[in-house]
Amino acid sequence: MSKQLIVALSKGRILDETLPLLADAGVEPLEDLGKSRKLLFDTNLPDVKLVVIRATDVPTYVQLGAADLGVAGKDVLLEHGAEGLYEPLDLEIARCKLMTAGVRGAEPALARRRVATKFVNIARRWYAQQGIQAEVIKLYGAMELAPLMNLADEIVDIVDTGNTLRANGMEPGELIASISTRLVVNKAAMTMKHARIKPLLERLEQAVAARREGVAG
Ligand code: ATP
Ligand code: PRP
Repeated sequence: MSKQLIVALSKGRILDETLPLLADAGVEPLEDLGKSRKLLFDTNLPDVKLVVIRATDVPTYVQLGAADLGVAGKDVLLEHGAEGLYEPLDLEIARCKLMTAGVRGAEPALARRRVATKFVNIARRWYAQQGIQAEVIKLYGAMELAPLMNLADEIVDIVDTGNTLRANGMEPGELIASISTRLVVNKAAMTMKHARIKPLLERLEQAVAARREGVAG
């Protein structure tokens, strides 16, 4: 196993909130991630490199050991499954909720419900736990459109302000999970590179706690 630490970051909305936390923990990329077409970045620490990839690919990189650590939303982790991963730290950023939602005022479908979502594993699990028969339809975005177009009866999606639901004549239903961004670590790396990972983890913990206290104070 190489001595380097590879950290896989989710591009998109999580990245902007992750970089200040990493900086507080003493890890800074040597160039502006937003301005580069590169995907692999050196940092101020010679043995730490960053890769910036699709959020949904982060658990795969970390699980298979291509990256030692990763930063991903709990929604993505629940959908992917936790095999081969430790999840030692809640970074407390990009908070939102994973919910069911339907057309405002509509009664839930009585028979088999058609549910559109990109979180098919989470949705199948949740409806089964509720004892509700559901046909889960995989979409890759714009879930809020599906009930309007009669593609589905309801959706499972991320809700934050509720603006996207409201703008499309929908309302939130049941809470499936409260979501925030987590640090994940490859299980083998946690053992083999413990001496290197532990101090980084501790500095990140301190950075998260400092923010929490800053917000509270
Ligand atoms: P991809 O482009 O790879 O499909 P995505 O579009 O889901 O990913 P983002 O929209 O950047 O990626 O969201 C990344 C993560 O941010 C999500 O996995 C979730 O944890 C969180 N998130 C998504 N939407 C919101 C929101 N409206 N408010 C707060 N956090 C959110
Ligand atoms: C996310 C999510 C919802 C929306 C919820 O979409 O998929 O559509 O945010 O946030 P709200 O409750 O504050 O409106 P995003 O803006 O990331 O667009 P995308 O899914 O197309 O990436």
